[in-house]
Order: sequence, then C-alpha cells, then structure tokens
Amino acid sequence: MNDQARLLREQIVKHRLINPNEVEKEAKTIAIISGKGGVGKSNFSLNFSLSLQQRGFNVLLFDLDIGMANIDILMGTTQKYSIVHLFEGGRNLNQIIQKGPENLSYIAGGSGLTDIFKLDEQKRKYFLSQLAEATYQYDFIIFDMGAGITEESLQLLLAVDEICLLTTCEPTSITDAYSALKYINIQNPSIPFHLILNKVPDLKIAAKTAERLQSVAKQFLTKKLNHLGSIPDDRAVLLAVMDQTPFILKNPNSPASKAIFKLSTIYLDGNSKAAVRSHEKTSFVSKLFRLFT
Ligand SMILES: Nc1ncnc2c1ncn2[C@@H]1O[C@H](COP(=O)(O)OP(=O)(O)OP(=O)(O)O)[C@@H](O)[C@H]1O
Ligand SMILES: [Mg+2]
Repeated sequence: MNDQARLLREQIVKHRLINPNEVEKEAKTIAIISGKGGVGKSNFSLNFSLSLQQRGFNVLLFDLDIGMANIDILMGTTQKYSIVHLFEGGRNLNQIIQKGPENLSYIAGGSGLTDIFKLDEQKRKYFLSQLAEATYQYDFIIFDMGAGITEESLQLLLAVDEICLLTTCEPTSITDAYSALKYINIQNPSIPFHLILNKVPDLKIAAKTAERLQSVAKQFLTKKLNHLGSIPDDRAVLLAVMDQTPFILKNPNSPASKAIFKLSTIYLDGNSKAAVRSHEKTSFVSKLFRLFT
C-alpha cells in the first residue's frame, strides 16, 4: 500500500467513519463497459446492482457516463445532486449519494463536468479520497461507464477489481468489444473480465457468439473471458424504460429479469459473502492513488 493510501486509511479510522475492524476490507469494484454504445450498459448496471441489493448486499451505483448520465431517468427518480456537486459547494460523497428503489445508493452523473478524469490535481485528490471512503462503506461499487474507453477513463478501469464487458451478438458490437478488451489487456493483462451478451435473439446464438469471442481472446491475447450470462432481447425492457422503472422490479418474471437473477446467482457463487470485500493486497484505493498521482 502506498503512503497516500495508508494516510487516508488512518484518517478514516481516526474520524470513526468506519469500524477499525473493517479497515482491511474494501468494496468489490466492478466497471461495466462496452466497445459500442447503446448495448445496454446502464440498464444492466442498474438491474444487476438492484439484484445484488435485493440479496442483502450494500451496493453503490456510480453513473460515470458524465455527458449522457441517465441512471436516475431509468429509475424515475429526481436528480437532486450529481457528481458535479462534489466539486461545487464543497459537498462530500455521502452528501451526493441518493437513494433509489430497494434503498439502492447511487451517484447520478451530471453534465457540466466534461471529464472527471481531467480534473486538476487538487480536485482529483479530493475525488479519490472521497471514493476511497466509499470503498469502506459498501460491499460493491458498480461504475456505469460511457461507451468506449478514453485515455483518462482507462486509469479507473485499470484500478477496478473486475470488468463486465457487454456486447450484443452483432458483429460490429463484438468487434468493438474485442478492441476494448485488447486496449485494457495491453495495459494490464491480469484484470478479470466477465462477458455478458445482451439483447440476444436466442441463447444458442449467444453461446456460439461468446465461444467465438472467448476463443479469439484466448488465442490472440492469451486472455480468459468468463461468460457470465446472456440476456434476451426482451420487450419488457423497453416497456420498463418507458415507465422509468427498473425492469427487474416492473416485471420480475420477464425473460430479461430472469436472466439477471440467474446471472447474479452465478456471479455470487464465485463470491461468497465473506469473500466479497477484498483485502488490501488488491486495493482499489492503492491502485487508484498509484495510477492518478
Ligand atoms: N435486454 C434488452 N432487451 C431489449 N432492449 C434492451 C435490452 N437492454 C437494453 N435495451 C434497450 O437498449 C437501449 C439502450 O440501453 P442502455 O441505455 O442501457 O445502453 P447503454 O449501453 O448504457 O448506452 P450508452 O452507450 O449510450 O450509455 C434502451 O433503449 C433499452 O431499452
Ligand atoms: Mg449508458
């Protein structure tokens, strides 16, 4: 652990923001990414977060798609604060965290901040220290990213514990997903990747598409892609979006909802509750400080 991360941890304990016994544990951080836009990242981030929350985990959903923020629209909640308020008016992260359905904590994205990763040094340090504090309060922090990867957002992607890569079965979407995977893999080949196929016409086509992508990733990048699951193309998603209600709440029996529940079960099977929070060896906070400062 680097000195800045250690100092920060000591400060957090000193101010009793967390239980000292919990100091070694941090939330599991997951970034939801895609190559191509519009493949369903925001819908997946929201519904996956809610399904983890429903199972008793404490989840923070962070809308980092700054320009096109829309998590609050998908939930039908009013945006009182956004990430912009962290830097204007001296608010801390807990003051801009809002509550959605199922008591889900979320941070809304906001326009007016072109790129959070291009902040000046002082603001960046403030952002990182606030984010670090949040890692001690949640079981999972899920980042809904914008489409594609910028040089700056790459820093966050290199620090997270896991990445969920979303694609549809369309060749254009798959090619872009592969490019995103390759780009991150060059910088850090050890980040675990989950592959999720969304809007799939049928499960057989999805399985074949996943196998092809897995085999190309293995052959050319020596990268293991874990196919976490596939979500059908389901009209219930569109209807839920129109109704501004997350689809697993609006219609829990729809094919897309069932796919989310199945996928979270498979995901959690590899992460027993005790092991969800990671130890400092792989600390998101330490990595972020190293990468950003
Ligand atoms: N499984 C699904 N079945 C049917 N429609 C879906 C499904 N998932 C997402 N959609 C539709 O796809 C559209 C895009 O979804 P979403 O906004 O979640 O994508 P995104 O990847 O976050 O987009 P962006 O790259 O712009 O952030 C929405 O209109 C949504 O209704
Ligand atoms: Mg989105």
